[in-house]
Amino acid sequence: MNIAIDGPAGAGKSTIAKKIAKKLGYIYVDTGAMYRAMALYFIRIGVSADDSVSISNKCNDADITIEYRNGEQVVLLNGEDVTGMLRTEEVGNMASATSVNGDVRKKLVELQQKLAATSDVVMDGRDIGTVVLPNAEVKVYLTASSAVRAKRRYDELVAKGETPDINKIEADIIERDERDMNREISPLRQADDATLIDSSYMSIDEVVDAVTGLLP
Ligand code: DC
Repeated sequence: MNIAIDGPAGAGKSTIAKKIAKKLGYIYVDTGAMYRAMALYFIRIGVSADDSVSISNKCNDADITIEYRNGEQVVLLNGEDVTGMLRTEEVGNMASATSVNGDVRKKLVELQQKLAATSDVVMDGRDIGTVVLPNAEVKVYLTASSAVRAKRRYDELVAKGETPDINKIEADIIERDERDMNREISPLRQADDATLIDSSYMSIDEVVDAVTGLLP
């Protein structure tokens, strides 16, 4: 049994997917973290986001593997646990820019399909229902307005003691959506057979119930 959750940045995909995985005893696969680990590798070796030739060549030197420790996904980049380094704006923007590359996508999609073939998974990303798991039993396209998504991100940063600019956060979100939805390979879009859920005015539990209610 596989559940695919796609949608734009900040729609709450990972929060919802984690809760559902726990509730059902499935494995949660965060595919964004894989693109982020690859992006971290490019940042570290000094490859620029617009150098597609180097990105294609160098992506094969990044060995990305996934492990589960105490039920949490751990991402290893060439054997190093980089899980705690992936959730920064710099890495997120680099991931959005470098995930347009076909060689990067091919490598990570294979890894994702292997994980789903051996376990029941809740997988979130941008192309899960359309490309990675086209036969998933449940497909959801989870979205929310850019203002709501910016406010959620703003609250997260404030809770961490930062003093962010909410307008800049919303502008970044809109720019990232543009790029993710308009790239040539596997753009973010709702699969024809996916259920649309707009979480703008829903609680986390309401969204979890809406998704699990779709299970056959
Ligand atoms: O979900 P996230 O913010 O961690 O994802 C970071 C970037 O990775 C996102 O902007 C686009 C890319 N991505 C992708 O292209 N395909 C996926 N399945 C997941 C993420």
